[in-house]
Amino acid sequence: MTLIPAFTLCFLLDGDDVLMLHRRFPPNQGLWNGVGGHIEPGETARQAVIREVAEETGYRITDPQFAGLLTWDGFEIPPGGIAIFTAQAPHRTFVGNHEGELAWVSREWACTAPEVVDNIHVFLPLVLAGGAPNHYHFSYQDNVRIRDLIEPLPADYDLERPYQPEAGFEEEQRGDYLLSLDKDRLQIEKVVDFLARQSYWAQSRPREVIETSIHTSVCLGIYRAGEQVAFARLVTDQATFAWLCDVFVDPDERGQGLGKWLVEAACRYADRVGIHRMLLATRDAHGLYEHYGDFQPLEVPGKWMSRIHPDSKQ
Ligand SMILES: CC(C)(COP(=O)(O)OP(=O)(O)OC[C@H]1O[C@@H](n2cnc3c(N)ncnc32)[C@H](O)[C@@H]1OP(=O)(O)O)[C@@H](O)C(=O)NCCC(=O)NCCS
Repeated sequence: MTLIPAFTLCFLLDGDDVLMLHRRFPPNQGLWNGVGGHIEPGETARQAVIREVAEETGYRITDPQFAGLLTWDGFEIPPGGIAIFTAQAPHRTFVGNHEGELAWVSREWACTAPEVVDNIHVFLPLVLAGGAPNHYHFSYQDNVRIRDLIEPLPADYDLERPYQPEAGFEEEQRGDYLLSLDKDRLQIEKVVDFLARQSYWAQSRPREVIETSIHTSVCLGIYRAGEQVAFARLVTDQATFAWLCDVFVDPDERGQGLGKWLVEAACRYADRVGIHRMLLATRDAHGLYEHYGDFQPLEVPGKWMSRIHPDSKQ
């Protein structure tokens, strides 16, 4: 099978130091990693890493060096691929970002410290030694790394091939509207405005909680002329279970099928991933979910239980 990475990871270098990010959000929350992120549909990995480095550090790099391909299985996020790069930082002073704290650390610390994502200890020494790019595959069980594989790059790996997610999944266009699962497109201000000021269920949810919930969920957005007009969130392990929530459509855009589209797309995503059960709660939109998502009342409500944080009880 051809390997098509959907992410980039970049190690910015300045003399003996490497720029690392202390991650505020999963995956690898609380650990130090390189910078990087999603490859947008239509971008090559090289174009994506130049954009991501600019967004996360403020550096305009021009010549990132491809240093290998990282893949995994059994980890907290589904199997996937990351194109690894190194690049010389043009100067020492970076611009911070909301993904976490940035810091220059020594090459040795980056290659050995327990606070660093552990698979970096395996590949970064080889990457920094400047050898040919390898394919690094890491197998995990219960998020513990149990096997490392280092092998030559697959013969058919094409670094210059633009990334295209599987059709009908990440993004789809209907008339003037684009539905996307790409979280980089989300306009957080609009989501916060709706949930904290207009919804009937999340008025007391602080902005930081909304931001964290977005980072840790699968999110759907609908956009018209670049403006976000609808949102939905799936709290999910992306394997067995999903909770559909925070579904809303901008009041000016209601009544033309966007809500139905969100529900259908969320269900299609869940079916594709193989999720066995989806749940949701609604005050009055049962018809929307019943007709356009095939949701039914709980078969045996008495089997289900829920728990509320002690401080949230009235
Ligand atoms: C509910 C909401 C997402 C629907 O979005 P929309 O784009 O206006 O809806 P659509 O045009 O796709 O049509 C919704 C369908 O669900 C049905 N429906 C059932 N209950 C509904 C409800 N409470 N509100 C809106 N539509 C409802 C509509 O009748 C329509 O079906 P039909 O076309 O067969 O008549 C939107 O009204 C909204 O954001 N409301 C405020 C937030 C909210 O209540 N979210 C749901 C929380 S569970």
